[in-house]
Amino acid sequence: MLPEYPLKILVIGSGGREHALCWKIAQSDRVEKVFCAPGNGGTAREAKCENVPIAVMDFPAIEKFAIENKVDLVVVGPDNPLAEGIVDSLEKAKLRVFGPTREQAKLEWSKAHSKRFMDRLGLPTARYVVCNSHEEAKSAVAQNPWAQVVKVDGLALGKGVFVCDNETEVLAALEQIFGAKTFGSAGETVVLEEKIVGEELSLLMLSDGKHLVQMAPCQDHKRRFDGDKGPNTGGMGAYSPVELYDRYKSQIESKIVEPLQKALSSGALTFKGVLYAGIIVSESGPELLEFNARFGDPETQAMMPRLKSDLLEALWACTSGELDQIKMEWSSNSSCCVVAVAEQYPTSSSKGEEVTSADHPNTVLYQAGTKVVEGKVVTDGGRVLAVVATAPSMEEAAKTCYTALEKVSFKGMDYRKDIARRAFKQCLSS
Ligand code: GLY
Repeated sequence: MLPEYPLKILVIGSGGREHALCWKIAQSDRVEKVFCAPGNGGTAREAKCENVPIAVMDFPAIEKFAIENKVDLVVVGPDNPLAEGIVDSLEKAKLRVFGPTREQAKLEWSKAHSKRFMDRLGLPTARYVVCNSHEEAKSAVAQNPWAQVVKVDGLALGKGVFVCDNETEVLAALEQIFGAKTFGSAGETVVLEEKIVGEELSLLMLSDGKHLVQMAPCQDHKRRFDGDKGPNTGGMGAYSPVELYDRYKSQIESKIVEPLQKALSSGALTFKGVLYAGIIVSESGPELLEFNARFGDPETQAMMPRLKSDLLEALWACTSGELDQIKMEWSSNSSCCVVAVAEQYPTSSSKGEEVTSADHPNTVLYQAGTKVVEGKVVTDGGRVLAVVATAPSMEEAAKTCYTALEKVSFKGMDYRKDIARRAFKQCLSS
């Protein structure tokens, strides 16, 4: 359980997810200080928070800072440092860290490992084949016409999944991966998978190595433009809760969550941190699309304003094996999170444009691609910020969110106008 003395926390990362984590952790009355490395324009100004100019991959500097500043808990946000073993490295230095080790995070950084793990546990997922060369992959495509999704095995900045409509597109994706070597060593292996058509949801679960606790289900909007058109992005918005989850709750629990819980108990799964299940619901029910080994972005921004209980207490319990004693309490309100991006995102980002905003009732503004220069918040990335509104209904939350966005501006600002619309369409039809 959380110690009584005032705690110092270090959050690693610089996105909207990390701003939301810092914002929520800072609300704990046990917290004296939240450092964020390197942070953004939002974490620079958040109450109790302070940015530390250390890059997320600079493990020696992070370790030195944490030791010198007597940090009580390090919370890791992004996938890259996890895949490179930041937790292993900091734990070796006797620091308390929230997040999976490199081996545990392999569920995210190796798609082939992840699919084999799903198979071993009998978790529902699309059929697949793993290929280690261009020749092998081309021959697998010829033999398996159902293989229309190509996944780069390693981390690929969210760009390593090709959802194709025919063999020509699959072969073009393989050419990019093996021929042009666009993904470097991450693309030395690919997973060819059957395409499943359906609606997606994100279910994030905390794990202390023995127990799993589900967080509030969310739905992400990955495509750049309204109507789920255009290229995939890091996330244009999210909402929570998700009616789709409620409809399939018992199947999701019996086919996915309970087998994972059993695997933790039996030792078939070793994992602590956030286990993020990307789920798709097709005609045959819920199936796993992927695992991530961290908090989602922008799911975290959509979730944090709904979390009534102390996040820090839950994160701490994950590091002390006491998650069974924690109950996460969620507001019955709905939340709608809309991400404001640079005009040309994801092709290019925005730099140095002043960001102005004003408070709006029942909303929170989390910054992402921003920094403070001469006392002003300026853009510094593709996804610049997110506005999250909460309200008793999803329709009201979305309305409030879009009204609040009218008070935010930076040159070239753009955002989707249909975030969460699917949720209230469903409400109207159910
Ligand atoms: N929202 C997708 C992700 O965090 O990977």
